[in-house]
Amino acid sequence: MFIGLDLGTSGLRALLIAENGAVIGDSEASYGVSHPHMGWSEQNPQDWIAACNDCMASLKEKFPNEFSALKGIGLSGQMHGATLIDGDDNVLRPCILWNDTRSHEEAANLDSTENVRELSGNIVFPGFTAPKLLWVKNNEPEIFAKTAKVLLPKDFLRFYLTGEHVGEMSDAAGTTWLNVRTRQWSDELLEKSAMRQDQMPHLVEGSEISGNLRDELVAKWGLSGRIIVAGGGGDNAAAACGVGTMSEGQGFISLGTSGVLLVAKDNFSPMPESAVHSFCHAVPNKWYQMGVMLAATDCLNWLSQNLGKSPAELSALLGNTIVEPGTIQFMPYLSGERTPHNDSKIRGAFLGLDVSSSHKELTQAVMEGVSYGLRDNFEALKLTGTNLNRLLAIGGGSQSTYWVELLATLFNLPIDIPEQGEFGAALGAARLAICAATGASPDSIMTPPKIAQTINPRSDLIVDYEAAYQKFTKIYPTLRTLL
Ligand code: XUL
Repeated sequence: MFIGLDLGTSGLRALLIAENGAVIGDSEASYGVSHPHMGWSEQNPQDWIAACNDCMASLKEKFPNEFSALKGIGLSGQMHGATLIDGDDNVLRPCILWNDTRSHEEAANLDSTENVRELSGNIVFPGFTAPKLLWVKNNEPEIFAKTAKVLLPKDFLRFYLTGEHVGEMSDAAGTTWLNVRTRQWSDELLEKSAMRQDQMPHLVEGSEISGNLRDELVAKWGLSGRIIVAGGGGDNAAAACGVGTMSEGQGFISLGTSGVLLVAKDNFSPMPESAVHSFCHAVPNKWYQMGVMLAATDCLNWLSQNLGKSPAELSALLGNTIVEPGTIQFMPYLSGERTPHNDSKIRGAFLGLDVSSSHKELTQAVMEGVSYGLRDNFEALKLTGTNLNRLLAIGGGSQSTYWVELLATLFNLPIDIPEQGEFGAALGAARLAICAATGASPDSIMTPPKIAQTINPRSDLIVDYEAAYQKFTKIYPTLRTLL
């Protein structure tokens, strides 16, 4: 038996699977995000530990026999967060999360520093880890001086589980301290943000063993024998392992809080100027590229809060199949944007509102605006030479066939909806644990899921949606001059 622990932004999920990949069951525990100032987004790392203990206790209670046969744990988690610990392993301040934009100036400065994009393969986005440490140096110098190690969120959870300071390539790639081509910490990049090698965890591949579960936890959870903890992966790399997106030509679109369009790569071929992210995959000698839009289903959640109807109620207004594009345009930049604009200051807008505009039309506008933003990501990936002939859809938003048909039509590609899309990153983490514990090759374990449904482009509407997308692309350049 194996467990995948996915440390998300709103909660932690534990998924228990058998060595043949069959899902036994899962448990979840949620925690909050605090926003003490505008643009800040923080979490207390002790909340992750409490959530992990709750999830493990609940799995043990629900599946006592399977749980007691546990052989390995794999980790996945929200990327980029900075958990700072001192020489005695005490946490020095709340973790600064991936969607925190306080370090936008430090990010812009670092991004324009010679060799940074070349070595890291990426734009230094404000959410990445290195600019956060520069912010701490500038604003909390006493904490910066005490920082003995910087751990990404799931690597802090690993420290609790194993007692070791270990990270892995896929998450390390989002720090701006890793040479993403050679998969090693880069002294040159570290120096540019006033950091040192000794402040970094030791690195393994995601499919390798990173340590063993501590004796105290083995006893506490009523387990026995050696229980390995695998390197695991950042949430997007782990989700790719969960749905078998491992090799050139395979890709998925994730409609979650943030929207991600990810393609697997056999080589490292970065193109930072496109604002596409190029990161190490969670298995050796593989990379991936992705476009990230900061607010995807978050835009629908925002509308739902303001209209007092749940996202499901709003989606139901539209039915299951698309009609012609609406007349209202929505710009989906509620949290700024990464791909393709790299603009932390841009914000959203509605255009074309009318006294007759209804909840239904606003919902259609929001789903269309998010989809046009994802088409922008698709175009950015094409610039890097990506050629796709189908995609998988995962994440909460993929439950709306309306939304998936809209994307299929805009991308002119068939989109498959897997049967178990919702287990993505936790399943990938558990699969990485199987590889680490048994030595099985990633290719034999990271298989594609069974497909519940394939949604084809609506050929009768492709021209109309193309025209609507072209209109959308004309709005951003003006909008940014007005905010
Ligand atoms: C990726 C990113 C998000 C987080 C949160 O670069 O910032 O996808 O990993 O899930």
